[in-house]
Amino acid sequence: MDRIRINGGQKLNGTIPISGAKNATLPLMIASLLTDQPLVLDNVPRLADVGLLQRILGNHGVDVMVSGKRLGETQYDGQTLHISAANVIDTTAPYELVSRMRASFWVIAPLVARLGEARVSMPGGCAIGTRPVDLLIMALERLGAAIDIDKGYVIARAKNGLRGGEIKFPKVTVGGTHTALMAASLARGTSVIENAAREPEIGDVADCLNKMGARISGAGTSRIVVEGVPKLSGARHRVLPDRIETGTYAMAVAMTGGDVLLENARPELLQAGLDVLTQAGVEIASTNAGIRVTRNGKGIAAVEVTTAPFPGFPTDLQAQLMALMTRAEGTSRITETIFENRFMHVQELARLGARIQLSGETATIEGVERLKGAPVMATDLRASVSLVIAALAAEGETMVNRVYHLDRGFERLEDKLSACGAAIERISG
Ligand code: UD1
Repeated sequence: MDRIRINGGQKLNGTIPISGAKNATLPLMIASLLTDQPLVLDNVPRLADVGLLQRILGNHGVDVMVSGKRLGETQYDGQTLHISAANVIDTTAPYELVSRMRASFWVIAPLVARLGEARVSMPGGCAIGTRPVDLLIMALERLGAAIDIDKGYVIARAKNGLRGGEIKFPKVTVGGTHTALMAASLARGTSVIENAAREPEIGDVADCLNKMGARISGAGTSRIVVEGVPKLSGARHRVLPDRIETGTYAMAVAMTGGDVLLENARPELLQAGLDVLTQAGVEIASTNAGIRVTRNGKGIAAVEVTTAPFPGFPTDLQAQLMALMTRAEGTSRITETIFENRFMHVQELARLGARIQLSGETATIEGVERLKGAPVMATDLRASVSLVIAALAAEGETMVNRVYHLDRGFERLEDKLSACGAAIERISG
C-alpha cells in the first residue's frame, strides 16, 4: 500500500492547476447510459473513482475509450473519455462494485428510464455514517417506477417507460437530484423537482443533458422543471473545475503561508469557502487565470463555520478547514450538519498535536503554536487530505498511511504540492 511522506514547514509558492470535478465527472459518465450515441467528456480527472466507474459501466456493456495527455507529460490537462452505451447488455449493478463507490448507485436512474428496468445493489454502509438511498427511490417512484427490494438489491421497473411527476425532496440531496434529473429527462411529460440541490455539479450535468437534447430549466435553483423527451442523443462536454480541490489547496496555502495561483479555478463555485478564508486573514484575488491565494506574515484568525448545502460552506471542505484551524490564533467552532460521523479526522489530527473537542455535531478547535509530525492513517477521502494539510505545517516528518483514499479524489496531489515547494513524496508498495 502506498504511503505519503511529508516534511512540514515549507511555504507554498507557484501555480497549482485545478482538475475537472470528480463530483461532476461521475454523474456525467453515468448519464452516458441515457443514450445509444457517444458521449464525449473532456477535462476528466485521472482518479481511482473514475477508473472504478469505468469498470462498473463496462459491466453494463458500456464502451469507454480514453485519450488525452498521459501521466508525466508537462501540461496538466484532463483526459477525454469517449463513452458509448449503444449496447447495454446487463441492467444489474452488483454489490462487489456498487459497495466500493456510493455514486455508482445512480446508474439506477438512466437504466430504468431508457431500458425499463434496473437491478442495483444497495450501497451499504460507509465510513462517514449512514447514507441512505430512500430519497432516490422516492424520486423514481414519483416518476412511475415500481420498486422492489430483494436480497440487498433495489429493483426498479417501468415497462412502459417513466412518466413525469412532481418530486418534493424533504431534504436537499445531491444524489437524489441527479437521479431525478436523469430519470425525468426520458419520462413522458413534465416533471418538477422541488427543493433540488443547487450544487454547481448539478448545473454542469443539466448543461450536458440539455446538449444531449433534454429540456431542463432551473438547474442551479431549488426548483427544476424537466420536459421529458423520447430519446437523447450524443454530445461533447467539458467537465467544470473541481471546487473541492480548489478549496483544499487554498487551505493548504493558508496553512503554510506563501502565494499560489490556483489555475482554472472559478471563485463563484466556492464563494462561501473563500469568504471563510478571507475571515481567517488569507488574501484571495480572482484573476483571468484562476484564484490567487496569499498569506504572508499574518497569522490565521479563528472562525465559526457550519456546513450546509450549496451555496453554504461545503461538508467536503470541513475536514480541511479543521486542519487549518488547528493553527489558528484562538478558538474555532465547526458544525457539521450534512453527515453524521464525519469527524474521523479529529483523532488523527490529535496525533499531530491538535486540540479538538467534539460535542454532538460541533467541533471546538483550540489553535496551537505548533503541530508535530507523526504517523497517521487516512480514513476517508476528505479526512485524508486534511492530514496532508496539517502535516505541511507540522514540524518534522508525517507519514500518511492508506493513501488510496486520496487517490480516489485528488489527482497527483504530491506532484502538485511539491511543484510549489512542499517536501512531499509518495512511497510505493
Ligand atoms: C454528494 C457528493 C459528496 C458530498 C455530498 C454532500 C458526489 C459524488 N458526492 O454525495 O461528495 O459530500 O453530496 O454535498 O457528488 N440522504 C438521505 N436519503 C437519501 C439520500 C441522502 O437521507 O436517499 C441524506 C444523506 O444521508 C445526507 C444528506 O442527505 O445526510 C445529503 O446527502 P447527498 O447530498 O445525497 O450526498 P451524496 O449525493 O451521496
